Amino acid sequence: PKCEDFLITTSPSLSSGSHLVCSLVDRHPDWRIINLDNLDYCCSPRSLESVEDRANYTFIRGDVCNSRLVNHIFNTENIDVIFHLAAKTHVERSFETPSSFQRVNIDGTRVLLGAAHQARHQPQRFIYVSTDEVYGASLDQVFDESSPVRPSNPYSATKAAAEYLVQSYWDKYKFPIIITRSNNIYGPRQYTEKVIPRFLTLLQRNKKCTIQGTLPKSRHFLFVDDAINAFLLVLEKGIVGEIYNMGTSCEIPIMQLARELVTMVKKVPDSEVQDWLEFVPDRPHVDLRYPITCEKLQQLGWRAEVSWAEGIRQTVKWYQVHPDFWSDASEDQEQIQSQLEKAE
Ligand SMILES: NC(=O)c1ccc[n+]([C@@H]2O[C@H](COP(=O)([O-])OP(=O)(O)OC[C@H]3O[C@@H](n4cnc5c(N)ncnc54)[C@H](O)[C@@H]3O)[C@@H](O)[C@H]2O)c1
Repeated sequence: PKCEDFLITTSPSLSSGSHLVCSLVDRHPDWRIINLDNLDYCCSPRSLESVEDRANYTFIRGDVCNSRLVNHIFNTENIDVIFHLAAKTHVERSFETPSSFQRVNIDGTRVLLGAAHQARHQPQRFIYVSTDEVYGASLDQVFDESSPVRPSNPYSATKAAAEYLVQSYWDKYKFPIIITRSNNIYGPRQYTEKVIPRFLTLLQRNKKCTIQGTLPKSRHFLFVDDAINAFLLVLEKGIVGEIYNMGTSCEIPIMQLARELVTMVKKVPDSEVQDWLEFVPDRPHVDLRYPITCEKLQQLGWRAEVSWAEGIRQTVKWYQVHPDFWSDASEDQEQIQSQLEKAE
């Protein structure tokens, strides 16, 4: 599609959103990138420092569920493309506060879709960034895009529900949506509640990596640069109405992940790695693994280019160079909250 203005509902916090914003601002000075985010607890505006003064970048602080705000944006800007990433994403928290996941992930998507569909200037693409967790767990079956959706936690259930909403706008109106379902994305700047930054942060504070439960869990990990290239390829060549799995064959058992990180951060011999592991009770319900195949995306020309060894090396190095990034961010968060309270 020919693009002028983008709206990205996203995340200064995160692995994916801030990297997507920065890549688009850098690579496409002729596109205007508008970033809508409410600066949730997992955010650091510092993740977007490198682009904040750029002429083609605008940040709007706001809630994706606020229909007045979202309608106003669509009626005053000429938005061609929407990448919808804003979400509540932490599985454990989704069991504690499922309603907030429903509100942001389902209602937020409904508000955004409705506003985009009714917009004065018709968008050319609405890309919904979903997750491979919608498939639920599998011990042997490899999921493709036509596999049944069986989410097994409130987070993935709300992502699946939002997918159905997005899909219905294609079915009913031929509104040009595309859905992506990606593996666990990792890389620099990821908030510390996700497993890789959690282990790294614990080790940096001389604490042990906490391994939840005793079952053999593993995850497929996708480096953030490869994820960004996949998003941009889906924008350029993806077929509207379609779903694309995004992932790698790089499956890492969580125990191996912890051992590798201990070796890299603590530089101890194999015989001492165990001293940095601690076994804790498991989470309420956790998928052991959810393998996917990405042939459809590969047919568009995508390959993951960053090996696990290289991706994890870059990630560990970033956390070593920026050990206080997320503790400073929580101070920023306190300031943001108190400014908010004063404004209310
Ligand atoms: N990180 C992964 O491994 C992964 C894998 C597959 C899919 N995804 C999807 O990619 C997207 C980004 O994931 P992440 O892990 O980078 O997320 P994250 O939790 O790090 O960031 C979520 C972002 O959404 C914003 N947000 C939350 N509520 C909002 C609201 N009401 N209004 C506006 N903004 C709001 C937050 O401020 C934050 O910046 C999500 O939709 C997630 O489901 C992530």
